[in-house]
Amino acid sequence: MRRRSVLTGVLGGTFLVATGTGLSACATIDTVGQVDFARPLLIPPLAESQIDDAGRRVFNLHARRGHRDFGIEGTTSTLGFNGDYLGPTLRARRGEQVMVNVVNNLKQETSVHWHGMHLPARCDGGPHQPVRPGATWSPAWTINQPAATLWYHPHPHGRTREHVNQGLAGLFILDDDTPAQRVLPHDYGVDDIPLIVQDKSLHKGEIRDHNTGDRLLVNGTYGPYLDVRTDRVRLRLLNASVSRTYAFGLADERPVQLIATDGGLLPAPVTVTRIRLSPGERAELVVPFRAGERIVLRSFPPAAGGRNFDGGKDQFDVLEFRAAARLRHVGTVPDAFGDFDRLDPATATVNRDFKLNGTNINDDQMDLDRIDAVVEKGTTEIWTVRNTDGQRHNFHVHDVQFQVLSVDGERPPAALGGWKDTVFLPPKGEVRIILRFADYADPDMPYMYHCHLLMHEDDGMMGQFVVVEPGQQAGRVGGTGGHDHGQQAG
Ligand code: C2O
Ligand code: CU
Ligand code: CU
Repeated sequence: MRRRSVLTGVLGGTFLVATGTGLSACATIDTVGQVDFARPLLIPPLAESQIDDAGRRVFNLHARRGHRDFGIEGTTSTLGFNGDYLGPTLRARRGEQVMVNVVNNLKQETSVHWHGMHLPARCDGGPHQPVRPGATWSPAWTINQPAATLWYHPHPHGRTREHVNQGLAGLFILDDDTPAQRVLPHDYGVDDIPLIVQDKSLHKGEIRDHNTGDRLLVNGTYGPYLDVRTDRVRLRLLNASVSRTYAFGLADERPVQLIATDGGLLPAPVTVTRIRLSPGERAELVVPFRAGERIVLRSFPPAAGGRNFDGGKDQFDVLEFRAAARLRHVGTVPDAFGDFDRLDPATATVNRDFKLNGTNINDDQMDLDRIDAVVEKGTTEIWTVRNTDGQRHNFHVHDVQFQVLSVDGERPPAALGGWKDTVFLPPKGEVRIILRFADYADPDMPYMYHCHLLMHEDDGMMGQFVVVEPGQQAGRVGGTGGHDHGQQAG
């Protein structure tokens, strides 16, 4: 294992440990008070789109190599969509038909998965939809779910960590006509701010292949500040890190309102001082600001007690907000967000158990040729997910958004009261989730479920399920060769 220790911080005498490909950093990383917020926060541009003859909104994403000077260690080689690092924000409305032309300008195979999107399995962009170098993959589907902050990223078998870590990721924001969305801050880049948070280990012009890094990038900006001009700002937080879990909050621990999680608005806003996000999870917050103030968004230590396992004691200064001398008043946060489609456990007809341990799920490693679960279309299921391990995991399900029924046998906290597609599992933790598989049967093309700590995912901590018509059998799935790759052009 390669390990480099760097003594930094005349200020705090803090050890920063860059772990390279190492599995654990036991020295604590603490950048509180040490970040020079010298760069304006970059806002990913909204992706351009055209409406084609079939009435579909068409986007183009080109995966390519690039270079970026983050202000750390000179110019760094990166990957990005339509640019050097990360990708544009795709945006579409509920009910719209969309198509994305994914062009692979890399020298190796990749894929693009629409994380959190409810869509046919052949459009999902997982390991069964590889895009060869030079090829274009053009999935098309109808947006059929509530407004939410989703994201996209490669999902090539065994190489997701590498591709995401090098910069291939972006947001996919969905809109709808819910009245609450009209009064919540929604001016993108002004009072509605995407925050893609990633820890990085940069060295000699390369983003190192790492599990945890010592520097934070927000939308690819190192040491960012944001000029605030409104009295409330909506933050769309995405943890797009390889394995690090964060506990975000304002430095003065002021109450903020959690309005949405992975799959959309909560039933009602929840007042919190911190929000924990494990890799892949999103949260939307509305933060109040006072005229003229400067205040830092921080990541507090996500785990209390014990040694610094998986960065559980690390803390970071993330972003500085600089409020103008006069702030424009923007929309209030309603007391409740309207009807919430609560799934009823009494309607569930199937129970399944998933045991997370090491890099296995139910003692098995991912096999592209094996179907682990066959789900009948139209059923509601309850899945019990147990982390029997001493290390942290999480659990992500493709195809559907789910609801959390219990955490360690107890009613979940209000912050877990909405739609989720990824849920954190601390050591020895247990969550029960309820899922409804309303449509998109395809016996031959599976969806994935997996741990979203990307090194675990790449190491095989993943399984596959197909959704079939009632009474139908699972079909024949292949590996990444020999089956339908979707529409390939070019
Ligand atoms: Cu965000 Cu299967 O992935
Ligand atoms: Cu996903
Ligand atoms: Cu894991």
